[in-house]
Amino acid sequence: MLISACSTPALVVKEVSEPEVAPEMEESAAKPTLEESKSTEEPASTNDVIVEVSFSQDVWPILEKYAVTAHGGKGGVFLESYSDILGNVVPGDPETSLLYKALIGDGMQQMPPGNPLPDEMIQMIYDWIKQGAKEN
Ligand code: HEM
Repeated sequence: MLISACSTPALVVKEVSEPEVAPEMEESAAKPTLEESKSTEEPASTNDVIVEVSFSQDVWPILEKYAVTAHGGKGGVFLESYSDILGNVVPGDPETSLLYKALIGDGMQQMPPGNPLPDEMIQMIYDWIKQGAKEN
């Protein structure tokens, strides 16, 4: 008589491994913002245009008309040539120039006496001195 042994079937546990789902790596970092490109170059303004004053074209005709004939050494001042005029000017510094001080009456009687030059003429001579009082 055969007694068959019961054999317990081996319990096969099949491990079912869930596929690992990698969490979505969302790009949460904000995109680098473009730096505002600031232009350092300002558009040229017409106010910045520097007009060079000419001694022969602008300054001399004024002095010749209003100073030369009447002056002739009054107050020890001659204004009959470029070098005469330069003797009363500090190139680049109108405020300390006797010529400009005379025209605005700074510390002295305003020239020409009793008949000041129009502001535009005084400004022109100021600019000429400021620009170096050149013999241009
Ligand atoms: C640079 C510096 C100047 C000095 C120190 C100076 C000084 C003098 C002085 C002391 C007199 C005599 C004033 C009198 O007798 O009452 C005089 C007269 C005169 N100045 Fe000047 N002056 C200067 C520039 C000028 C300029 C730039 C002008 C013209 C744009 C001018 C025009 C005159 C005129 C026309 C007279 C004659 C006034 C007259 O005889 O009736 N001066 N100046």
